Amino acid sequence: MTKHPLIDLIKNKPLFDTLADQYGTPLYIYSKERLVHNINLLKKALNDYFDSFHICYTIKANSNPHLIKILKTEIPSLGADCASPGEIFAAEKGGINGNECIYTGNYESPNDLKYALEKNAHINLDDITSFHRLKKIGLPKDISFRLNPGFGRGAFSQIVTGGKNSKFGVPHYDIVKAYRLAKESGISKFGIQCMTGSGVLDPDYYPKLIKDILKTVGLLKDELGIHMDYISLGGGYGIPYKDDETPLDFNKVFQNVAKNFHTFFDERNEKKPSLWIEPGKSVVGDAGILLTRITGKKESYKSFIGVDAGMETLMRPALYGAYHRIYKVGAPNAPAIHKVDITGQICENTDRIAVDRKFPDVTEGDLLTVMDTGAYSYTMSHQFCTRPKVAEVLLDGVNPTLIRKRETIEDIFSDCDI
Ligand SMILES: Cc1ncc(COP(=O)(O)O)c(C=O)c1O
Repeated sequence: MTKHPLIDLIKNKPLFDTLADQYGTPLYIYSKERLVHNINLLKKALNDYFDSFHICYTIKANSNPHLIKILKTEIPSLGADCASPGEIFAAEKGGINGNECIYTGNYESPNDLKYALEKNAHINLDDITSFHRLKKIGLPKDISFRLNPGFGRGAFSQIVTGGKNSKFGVPHYDIVKAYRLAKESGISKFGIQCMTGSGVLDPDYYPKLIKDILKTVGLLKDELGIHMDYISLGGGYGIPYKDDETPLDFNKVFQNVAKNFHTFFDERNEKKPSLWIEPGKSVVGDAGILLTRITGKKESYKSFIGVDAGMETLMRPALYGAYHRIYKVGAPNAPAIHKVDITGQICENTDRIAVDRKFPDVTEGDLLTVMDTGAYSYTMSHQFCTRPKVAEVLLDGVNPTLIRKRETIEDIFSDCDI
């Protein structure tokens, strides 16, 4: 059993009562201490086993520039993994330069490619056709392609991004063709990237994945004489969402990744590329809490607890059936005695934060915390049913700072010019 790392914080009822009064609910709350802890854990593991590495924090996990700035202050060499011009913009707002970013689009528009090129981002192309589009705009100093090795792994089928059913990456049988085209077009510096899915808690997966990527790296060297300046293993490092899940031991993960990496280049007597990673969830996931208030309880064919945060605020349960631990503020260990569905106020029947969940006694007006909502939570939130997006607060110890104002109904219509 792993207790949630922020469980002691949830016991502090006066703190959450004050936050709810001061900033309203629903409210995203982030722990600075946890964020700093997480990024340093990754850095230490890489530092112990690699001479050259680059951490590209994945902006789509959480793009709040205040959080990016904390990470960048902690690790001055930090880069970013960006999937859109907006994410490059957010990275820059957080203090990360364009040339420290890897830009990985898919089915990229000419405008997106132009933006990434102008910002000097390392461009990681999703397909051979992407290269043709890019060439019409201009060519960067270095290029990488996203390899789809033909397999993938993820916590749910929807977040597996490698394999035959994936829309991402260059299939392994076309990879030589892609790099040949880039080389013949005058590119002389190269990287390779591979990201096969998210939420992977199996520590043995990453050493296997690097081994497979290295097969392709060897092939590209033998067939085309291409040396890689960097290899990006992507992200995907899972976090526990349930008490019975075991956190990844990053020291073990990167020790074993390094073993395969160093053996490969030592045996071939070749210069070693830099190892890049693109962590998102593992950096910010468990540092975030969604604070929500119970707005109604209903006994129907099922028992419902209605809260003011629905699928518009936290999309993951409705989108993937994702599980998030939910606690009663002040009493995270209260005995779970009722089976309930926890739902928001959205006019969709998929609007659930939890389904058939054993839950303690609660009443209308009580505050609940939805845990592990630092990643893919605010960034996936939307305004369905014309609900304004919520505020975000950073906790330094128990001291709060508002890092994004709550949207208003007027804000939603401010661009309609009516
Ligand atoms: C290209 C790329 N890199 C990295 C990540 C980060 O994944 P995670 O948050 O699982 O670490 C993603 C997530 O979708 C991604 O698409």
